[in-house]
Amino acid sequence: MSRIVVVGSINMDLVTQAPRFVGPGETILGERFLTVPGGKGANQAVAAARLGAEVALVGALGRDAFGDQLHAGLAAEHVNLDHVARLEHGASGTASITVAGGENQIIVVPAANACVTPAQVTAAQALIARADAVLVQMEIPLETVEATVRLGHRLGVPVILNPAPAQQLPIDWLQLARYVTPNQHELAILLGADPHEDFRDLMRHSPCPVVLTRGGEGAWYRDGGEPAHQHGFKVEVVDSTGAGDTFNAALAVFLKEGLPQAVRKACAAAALSVTRLGAQGGMPSGRELSAFLAQQAD
Ligand code: RIB
Repeated sequence: MSRIVVVGSINMDLVTQAPRFVGPGETILGERFLTVPGGKGANQAVAAARLGAEVALVGALGRDAFGDQLHAGLAAEHVNLDHVARLEHGASGTASITVAGGENQIIVVPAANACVTPAQVTAAQALIARADAVLVQMEIPLETVEATVRLGHRLGVPVILNPAPAQQLPIDWLQLARYVTPNQHELAILLGADPHEDFRDLMRHSPCPVVLTRGGEGAWYRDGGEPAHQHGFKVEVVDSTGAGDTFNAALAVFLKEGLPQAVRKACAAAALSVTRLGAQGGMPSGRELSAFLAQQAD
């Protein structure tokens, strides 16, 4: 069983399914509204737990109704919440999401997620030291992301940095990550490069190994040598929210099997995740993933 530590955000997702996206000043009628658990950190923790990993999450919630629901949901998914702070004042994070035609638009209000501290990462050192991999994203303060990357590197534990939402990062600590997992757009921002530059060239110039996601087209990966491609798996797309999170979680869980195999399983898990509404709705169990892969030709 893989041991994974996730350092990241926890949000309540306020999801509206609509026939199309609205323009400025426009009102349209939506089809469905639901509140579902989300946040990149929580999503990655849940996806890894469903795939059979032992998972601990470092994060923060308010003591509000959303915080209570999110805490209970994560506990029900068997995520260790010992390092999730409950803040006396302030709200839990939220994400207002519109889903139309399988695509999404998201506005995140970090709230409690803006209070996840480097000290919380240090407090989780014993868990991190015995982890197979650490996952961190960028919906929490950058100083906490940096503390995670530096601690994982010092302890010799691979850190997978999912640079979303993207911003340019200092090379001196970016190179301490074992892998960065951007999409093409995020990689250009991360490196401060021209967004029109060929993504394979960007991968070659990255200060650390890159696993680049390409939606339905699968993923490219480079760990020395030339970038290699893993094709995507064909599915009926209902909602792509959380696909990247499922990809990152599976990559971390299966990293011990070698990068090509981990990327293949990550692409398959991400494909399954988009077949249901909600970030965590379609995240597969280990058994579902194995059954899906057994049906594939390659
Ligand atoms: O990656 C998807 C997630 O991004 C959503 O669950 C939302 O909460 C935002 O954080």
